[in-house]
Amino acid sequence: MTTSTDPNSPLSLALAQLRGAADLEALKALERDLLGKSGPAGQILASIPTLPPEERKSAGARANEIKRALEEALSARKRELEDVALAAERTGGDFDATLPPAPLERGGLHPVTRVVRDLEDLFTSMGYTILDGPEVELDWYNFEALNIPKDHPARDAQDTFYCDPEGRVVLRTHTSPVQIRAMERMKPPFRAIVPGKVFRNEAVDASHEHTFHQMEGLVVGKDVSVGHLIGAMKTLLRGVFGKDIEIRLRPGYFPFVEPGFELDARCPFCSTGCRVCKQSTWIELLPCGMVHPNVLKSGGIDPEQWTGFAFGLGLSRLVMLRYGIDDVRHLLSGDLRFLEQF
Ligand code: DAH
Repeated sequence: MTTSTDPNSPLSLALAQLRGAADLEALKALERDLLGKSGPAGQILASIPTLPPEERKSAGARANEIKRALEEALSARKRELEDVALAAERTGGDFDATLPPAPLERGGLHPVTRVVRDLEDLFTSMGYTILDGPEVELDWYNFEALNIPKDHPARDAQDTFYCDPEGRVVLRTHTSPVQIRAMERMKPPFRAIVPGKVFRNEAVDASHEHTFHQMEGLVVGKDVSVGHLIGAMKTLLRGVFGKDIEIRLRPGYFPFVEPGFELDARCPFCSTGCRVCKQSTWIELLPCGMVHPNVLKSGGIDPEQWTGFAFGLGLSRLVMLRYGIDDVRHLLSGDLRFLEQF
C-alpha cells in the first residue's frame, strides 16, 4: 500500500494539485474530482467490499484520513485565493484607497429631548435639582398623597390606566407624584424639576396622546410666596422663547395646590391673534399654585414651618409650540420622516 510520504502516492499527488490550483474556478473543479467518488479516498471506499474482512476497517480509516487531509488543503488554498482576489479587487478596478470615506450618517436629538435639555440647563443654573420618578406608580403617590381621595371628581379628569384589579398601581397620570417622593428624600429648603412621561387612557387625536411629557416643578422653603412663583415662571418663559413674555394668572383648581392658577402666556408668535393662540393672543401653558398644606404633610414636611409652590408644565405642548408641530401623535410615532427634520 502506498503512504502519504510517497511523493507519487495518490494522496500526495492530489495535495500537490490542490496547493497549486491557479484560481478559485480551478479549485472548484479539483474539489469535484479529488473529493468525489473517483478521488483517492473515494476509490479506497469503493474497494472495501472486495477486501478480506480483516482489512476493511483499516481501509475505511485510511480513506477518512485522506479525505480530511484533502479538505484541509482545499480550504487553506481557498483562503489564499480569496485573499488574492480581494487584494486584486482593491488595487485594480474601481477601488481607490485615497478617496475620502462615505460620510457617517448622524442621528439627531428628539425634539422633546432638546427642549428637556434646554430646560434642565436653565433650571440647574437656578439651583434646581433634576429628579426622576417611576412611571408605574402607586395610587398613593399619584392621587392620595396629592390630596385627591378615592371619590374625588379630579380622578375622572385624568383617565387612568390601572395596572392591577385592586387599583393600587397605576401608570402615572402626571409628574406630580414625584413632588411627594422629592419631599420624602430631600430636606427643605429645596428646588426640583421632574421632566418625564405620563399616561392617560383617553381618545387619541391631534392634541391628545395616551403617552405624553410633562415637567413638574417644586420649590419648598421659608416664606415662599406667589411672587416667587411668578418670578420663576417668567424666567422659565424667557428661557424657552428667548424673550420676555407677558403673563396672566387665572384661578385654577387642582387639589394639591391652594391657591391654584392657570398661567397664560402672551402668544409669542403674534400680537393680534393667530392659529396657535386661537385668535386670543393668550396661550394656556402652565398650571401652578402654592403647595397645599395636606400635600406637605403627606411628604413629611411641616406646613407650619415651610411653604412652597409647584407647577406642571405641559412639555409636549411646549415642544409643539416651539417647533410648530401640529399633531402630538408625531412626537412618539418613531417616524423617521418626522424625526429627520430636527
Ligand atoms: N398635575 C397636573 C395635571 O397633570 C398639573 C399641575 C397643576 C401640576 C398644578 C402642578 C400644579 O404642580 O401646581 O393636570
